[in-house]
Amino acid sequence: MTTTPNVADAAAVHAHAMGAPAELDHCPLMPTYAPPQLTLVRGEGTRVWDRDGVSYLDFLTGLAVVSLGHAHPEVADAIAEQARTLVHTSNLFGNEIGWQVAETLDRLLGGGGQVFFTNSGAEANECALKLARKWGGHGKYVVVSAYNSFHGRTLATLHATGQPQKHEAFQPLPEGFRHVVYDDIAELERAIDPSCAAILLEMVQGEGGVNPISASYAQDVRRLCDERGLLLIIDEVQTGLARTGQWFAHQHFGIVPDVVTMAKALGNGMPIGACWARRDVASAFVPGDHGSTYGGQPLAASAALAVLRIMERDDLPGRAAKVGEYLHRELADLPRVCEVRGLGLLLAIELDPGIDAKAVQAQALAAGLITNAVTPSALRLAPPLTVSGEELDEALAILRSVLAAQTPSIDGEG
Ligand SMILES: Cc1ncc(COP(=O)(O)O)c(C=O)c1O
Repeated sequence: MTTTPNVADAAAVHAHAMGAPAELDHCPLMPTYAPPQLTLVRGEGTRVWDRDGVSYLDFLTGLAVVSLGHAHPEVADAIAEQARTLVHTSNLFGNEIGWQVAETLDRLLGGGGQVFFTNSGAEANECALKLARKWGGHGKYVVVSAYNSFHGRTLATLHATGQPQKHEAFQPLPEGFRHVVYDDIAELERAIDPSCAAILLEMVQGEGGVNPISASYAQDVRRLCDERGLLLIIDEVQTGLARTGQWFAHQHFGIVPDVVTMAKALGNGMPIGACWARRDVASAFVPGDHGSTYGGQPLAASAALAVLRIMERDDLPGRAAKVGEYLHRELADLPRVCEVRGLGLLLAIELDPGIDAKAVQAQALAAGLITNAVTPSALRLAPPLTVSGEELDEALAILRSVLAAQTPSIDGEG
């Protein structure tokens, strides 16, 4: 039987979802994540179900991945058909499906580029970093990125990630990374010297708290890259593929990057990422410079091809823009919300001082809504781009009742 929880059930839902303490003691997984609040076993569209049959509205979509909703029938059919036909061949052989995905991505990015397929966002960025070094040549290898950014967990992408507290335990990290304050063009200009090969930026800092870049900064960075002979690498792993109301977030600002990385939404949950680069930049690579056993294999590529076909047919960038505008407006009207920020359907609400986003996340979850406390004071919302009007209103009603029940902590009131 399917049930929807309410706030009063919170403790019971959590206890069930986490299982008995003995189960956690014998957890076979490395402790890189906090113990899960829920175990999900099924999804359909915007809804997911836990192992007790309790349903939730998923306004996080596996961290901005399942943009077409869970178990999308056309994507599922494409995967099932390909699974029965040819799952994997390695990149030693041609792959017609990967070729079509690459052609589509190149068209959506304005043409004139080439694609390398990966299995994740970090690997897409790793490819971009290696490409920048190869393109830069001897002595021109430094990549400048922003504080508060997030670019992945491999050693190089971790160093590109501008969060020094995440670096500490893993020193020494690969050399050649420099960080600047986001959205401060004077500081960026000062940080550039002849050792720099590229600037790496998100257009909305997703993990950093859903912080959109200003149009003037994005344009100034492009100009600076042209003047100083640097590559502009845009990390669209979280923002790419329709989420922000354009195919890629940089398209809001009228800039043309040299390299674009993406992952998350590309496979609607099937692990596939991509690094696109202008053809003359991509040509810095020669056979043997980079590779991936699985990257772009027929199974993952079949999901990506279906995703791109559906997104184009149903104009999902347009839908994300329109629905995002509605959600933005309604969120601004909720109690205890002092700011709404983001683009399209990648949004965050900043809560009044003294309101704990983690507590709000837990209470919303207990009431049947999945969100994410992206900072201690902000909640991130990234529903499927296919979310219905009724689902939006249901989620807003849950948030309204949870937020209305919050009282600021004494610390926050001061
Ligand atoms: C902007 C950005 N870049 C890179 C990554 C890393 O992607 P992955 O976890 O697939 O390696 C993420 C993940 O959240 C991201 O948001």
